[in-house]
Amino acid sequence: MEYKQIFENNQKWLEEKQRTDKEFFQKLSSGQHPDYLFIGCSDSRVTAEDLMGAQPGEVFIHRNIANLIPNNDNNSASVVEYAVKHLGVKHVVVCGHYLCGGIKAAMQAADLGILNPWLRNIRDVYRLHKEELNSISIEEKRYDRLVELNVQEQCLNIIKMAVWQKTFLSTGVPLIHGWVFDVRTGKLKDLRIDFNKELSSIREIYDLGTVTDNRS
Ligand code: CO
Repeated sequence: MEYKQIFENNQKWLEEKQRTDKEFFQKLSSGQHPDYLFIGCSDSRVTAEDLMGAQPGEVFIHRNIANLIPNNDNNSASVVEYAVKHLGVKHVVVCGHYLCGGIKAAMQAADLGILNPWLRNIRDVYRLHKEELNSISIEEKRYDRLVELNVQEQCLNIIKMAVWQKTFLSTGVPLIHGWVFDVRTGKLKDLRIDFNKELSSIREIYDLGTVTDNRS
């Protein structure tokens, strides 16, 4: 795409929006009340709104390499905090994708400089699920499975956060979902992770005291 084309596209886009709804931008200006927080990969092929058919104002979005929510990452933690506590989203989605370059890089033995500590989060996921992953002999299938397990572990990272525990245990939302987008087919897949089960299995270790607070 030519650089100049972007501004011509923008002009066409805003005219189209105004044609369908005269007050479109007026409504947007009044604030945002998205129901969804989407945490996805920065990969240019995984365009959150496009693949969900979402409109401006409907999805709060955070994207980084390999859709991670690492411990001590102030950036993703702030996004979750703001979305859950202040915007009151009803759903938090972690969306990975097959053929993810970040996952691929973490599967290979290579020094990638500044990327090392970031990718180590994925290597940790590999280590946690080493037995299952190493039992998959076809490399492409192992790669696909690591994409899925990484999504699952990032969802668990949200479960470990006080803001989620506190909000969910007192209001029943937001629900957490793990998705994978298949770049090869365009299909969006819900991994249907049972988070009530996951929450109870890790609660004894990661409980931040909110359960007791809510029951008393
Ligand atoms: Co990716």
